[in-house]
Amino acid sequence: MSDDLYERAVAISQRAYAPYSNYLVGAAVRTRDGRVFEGVNVENAAYPLGVCAEKSAIVKAVSEGYRPGDIAAIGITASPCGGCRQWLYEFRVDEVTFLSSTGDLVTYSAGALLPDTWDLPA
Ligand code: THU
Repeated sequence: MSDDLYERAVAISQRAYAPYSNYLVGAAVRTRDGRVFEGVNVENAAYPLGVCAEKSAIVKAVSEGYRPGDIAAIGITASPCGGCRQWLYEFRVDEVTFLSSTGDLVTYSAGALLPDTWDLPA
């Protein structure tokens, strides 16, 4: 359970750019070597072009050189959407902690959040 990452996510959510939904989301990932990258949702007047907080946090880590298997945990202020679950699975995040719909802080592996996952055929 990554409560500290969840707290980082709550703090960074204030920087979200969400003028259309007014729903501020924050995320914070921790790499296996101990670095933390934060992200927020960034919306756009062309609605489908908006980016979720989880993706913006993962993109930051990837642009610093991290790859699938390098991200140990993520804290998110919301239950991850289906697309973000696929992203979390792509990077094989072990611990995904978020505030569930029931108001509890819960932790799952990325695989548990997306059963029978799509992978490219070998
Ligand atoms: N959102 C996220 O940032 N992450 C999720 O997993 C769920 C949804 C954002 C997208 C949009 O900017 C706002 O929340 C409302 O859907």
